[in-house]
Amino acid sequence: MRRTIHDLRQLAATRKLASLTCYDASFADLLDDAGIDILLVGDSLGMVIQGHASTLPVTVGDVAYHTRAVARGARTAWIVADMPFGSYQASPEQALRNAVELMQAGADMVKLEGGEEMAATVAFLGARGVPVCGHVGLTPQHVQTLGGYRIQGKDAAGAERVLAGARAIEDAGAAMLVIEAVPHGLAERIVAQRRSLVIGIGASAACDGQVLVLHDMLGISPGKRPRFVKDFLADGGSIEAAVRRYVDAVRIGAFPGPEHVYPDEA
Ligand code: KIV
Repeated sequence: MRRTIHDLRQLAATRKLASLTCYDASFADLLDDAGIDILLVGDSLGMVIQGHASTLPVTVGDVAYHTRAVARGARTAWIVADMPFGSYQASPEQALRNAVELMQAGADMVKLEGGEEMAATVAFLGARGVPVCGHVGLTPQHVQTLGGYRIQGKDAAGAERVLAGARAIEDAGAAMLVIEAVPHGLAERIVAQRRSLVIGIGASAACDGQVLVLHDMLGISPGKRPRFVKDFLADGGSIEAAVRRYVDAVRIGAFPGPEHVYPDEA
């Protein structure tokens, strides 16, 4: 039986939640067996599956295709599908149309990037039966306006912007929030005020759970490895054993270590 958001809240009261991105049925089956709580059909598929330089070319059709495959392979994990660039920013109605396509493909929840400017859309979706996961901090769909994949919230004004964004998304009813690539002190402030399940990537071990891109944690993503990535296959063994090591490390709060989070500015 698939986990519900209620199950995830109960689990998070007893241990950390382990999440990985997933794009196909075989990996969904393997990750589910290894105890992954949340499978994210991330728009990172544009980079690690399709070979693009960013997530911007990914379409709703692409995410729906991979969500259908993941939903066939998963038995218990909660499935989150990313809303791609340009599929939700125009209006709440546009977001609902595309979110419905992803839910009908098998997603349990959709994820969208942004802060205060997306709050009305989060509330609109939630009121119409679509659970939403927010995504603040480094939001890869904004790579061109951010000027690259950079840590966010480093100065006081930036930190306030990220905090206000997290608060607005949660106040609008988001049941989950991803925080990506912010100084760990800022991540801890978000966790301290949280009203949803907070999942970190390059954030803090204090989050309710952690997520990584599957290809990153298996050490097969091309290019420079971000600080928050650990290759769990580096010591050898099978892919399944590597995923189990990741699940165990996240559950007990051993990952991320201090070397995987961003220090606060001096
Ligand atoms: O698309 C993705 O894989 C993501 C994670 C990095 C959180 O959004």
